[in-house]
Amino acid sequence: MKHLLDIESLNAAQIADILARAAEMKRHRGPHPDAPLAGECWVMLFSKSSTRTRLSFEVGIRELGGQPIFLPASEIQLGRGEPIRDTARVIGRMAHGAVIRTYGQSEVEEFARLSGIRTINALTDAEHPCQILSDLFTITEKRGSLDGLKLAFIGDGDCNVARSWIWAASRCGFELRIAAPPRFQPPKELVQRAGGRISVTTDVRAACDGANVLYTDVWVSMGKEDEATFRAAQFGGYQINRATLDSISGSPLIMHCLPAYRGKEITDDVFEAHAKTIFDQTENRLHAQKAILTWLKK
Ligand code: CP
Ligand code: NVA
Repeated sequence: MKHLLDIESLNAAQIADILARAAEMKRHRGPHPDAPLAGECWVMLFSKSSTRTRLSFEVGIRELGGQPIFLPASEIQLGRGEPIRDTARVIGRMAHGAVIRTYGQSEVEEFARLSGIRTINALTDAEHPCQILSDLFTITEKRGSLDGLKLAFIGDGDCNVARSWIWAASRCGFELRIAAPPRFQPPKELVQRAGGRISVTTDVRAACDGANVLYTDVWVSMGKEDEATFRAAQFGGYQINRATLDSISGSPLIMHCLPAYRGKEITDDVFEAHAKTIFDQTENRLHAQKAILTWLKK
């Protein structure tokens, strides 16, 4: 039984396979002629809000011939305290796959183990693998390949998106520079374990200078709302704005996983100037996730 629980467990060949499938899905967009998920019901178990991930999976599963069933945690017994290990065994008796958005990485791992059905991590506090696979696809589309990629991540260097970038850099061998306040840098142990060409700094300009991609994410991830005031003070200097771009060499792609908070991690003018790239990223969630869904069937 195959799952997609994190980037950490993938190798370069598996990532390349998924990216090639994503390109194929995009070339032949729309309903898949072979309906590879025909007869399958996929539960989408979400404990956090979502626009892009929910929509792209619902559309993607349908385009592959399957049926998505959206189950918000707050509306099922899970939200009233039924444990994930029982929920997993219930869903495993009736559905063919599950897409899960939750807090703890251990929850998706436990679900995958006990449900016995294909399980996809649609974001946990630890990783957002579908986003980063999709972004790798966007980068290969725009640059031709990942060769020579220097990606700068600006903001919360210890969030799920940053951590998935760490594993992507480790597995694919590109250079990742993280600029983050000291309190929001990834643990040294994690960076060491990942290996590869990953640097962490407080110097935004140094991280961005000469990078091919500048990437940012919200300062306040879902579940961290009670830290919003503290985070706003910490992240003040970690914004992608016109001054950042004017101070560096090169014309990098500006990427954002969305949702975006203008005036916080990115200014409105920079966001709008790079909206084409950012919404290409969004669209590519659909193609990349269809690729993941077929890759899991192998
Ligand atoms: N980028 C992303 O995962 O967006 P949603 O939270 O809207 O799904
Ligand atoms: N780091 C963000 C990503 C949103 C897609 C969060 O977890 O809220």
